[in-house]
Amino acid sequence: MNQLQNISKPIQGELDRCRQMFAKSLHHENPLLDHALSMVREHNGKMMRPILALLVARLFGEINDRTMNVACAYEAFHTASLVHDDVVDESEERRGQESINRDSGNKVAVLVGDYILSNALNYLAETDCPKLVNIMSDAAKRLADGELLQLYNVSNQNISEQTYFEIISNKTAALFASCAYSAAISNGADAESAEQMHRFGETLGICFQIRDDIFDYTECNIGKPTGNDMKEGKLTLPVIHALLNTKGEEASAMNEIALKVKQLKATKEEIASLVEFTRQNGGIEYAGQTMETLAQKAKEILTAYPDSIVRKSLTDYVDYVIGREY
Ligand code: IPE
Ligand code: IPE
Ligand code: MG
Ligand code: MG
Repeated sequence: MNQLQNISKPIQGELDRCRQMFAKSLHHENPLLDHALSMVREHNGKMMRPILALLVARLFGEINDRTMNVACAYEAFHTASLVHDDVVDESEERRGQESINRDSGNKVAVLVGDYILSNALNYLAETDCPKLVNIMSDAAKRLADGELLQLYNVSNQNISEQTYFEIISNKTAALFASCAYSAAISNGADAESAEQMHRFGETLGICFQIRDDIFDYTECNIGKPTGNDMKEGKLTLPVIHALLNTKGEEASAMNEIALKVKQLKATKEEIASLVEFTRQNGGIEYAGQTMETLAQKAKEILTAYPDSIVRKSLTDYVDYVIGREY
């Protein structure tokens, strides 16, 4: 049994049901749309957001239909964001297969992303709870804001950790935060507990993106080549740290390359040298430590809850996020 299956044990039945509910919404009579939807249906992801939603809700009691809809809504929202993200990033691969934009073109991918996002709204409508719709709308705005800041930042000369954290909290952590928050609300948590779950999701989400960004500097199983983010003009925490904490000739040369990366003008060799420089100058260790510190904070939030197998699964979930290999 893999680590994620183990973590999901307390909510296994509900997670299976959620998978079925989610897959059911990915069919259409229009063959063009159905073909693109089949790519999502047949290569689903790790289901990190439904697992989080179901575990968080389970802290507050038996899972109800409202939580099931929240779990599906966040998987749909996340999936739509990936379909759109691959258009923005001009990515050719997703989940080990061709991305939808690569397979069917940008126009189809934008519309399919819209379709899947609308599924998210359908699920939330089933909850009869306007607050849950509000929470997702706010997260969707933060996600778009984060993606836009990242795009804008490609041509911005400054390199700062602060901007990096602003980008990742909006583009990734907002979704985890609102997912955990909504799950708590859907199962009757009081306002203070729901806020705690929001903070838990936000902290976890930041860890999640830092981990994803570290993959870019190492050989890994995620299906992305090394240096891919830099190819897209993205400078992430490891390289930002290495650049801001070194001096001398080599560091100046690397700063020059970093600016070329942002302008999408760096050659393959230059990117490889910047990746190597990051590795040699403690960038990966620093990002790893930052993630560890945040993971500790996330786990501390859980200590306010009585010890249980669900709490243990949430603690393990945090460890999985920072230690995952794909
Ligand atoms: C990938 O998320 C996108 C990021 C937020 C970094 P996941 O790694 O959860 O993607 P899937 O759903 O398992 O493919
Ligand atoms: C993840 O962003 C997608 C969103 C948060 C919307 P990235 O562009 O960094 O992630 P991958 O590498 O494509 O999964
Ligand atoms: Mg992106
Ligand atoms: Mg991307």
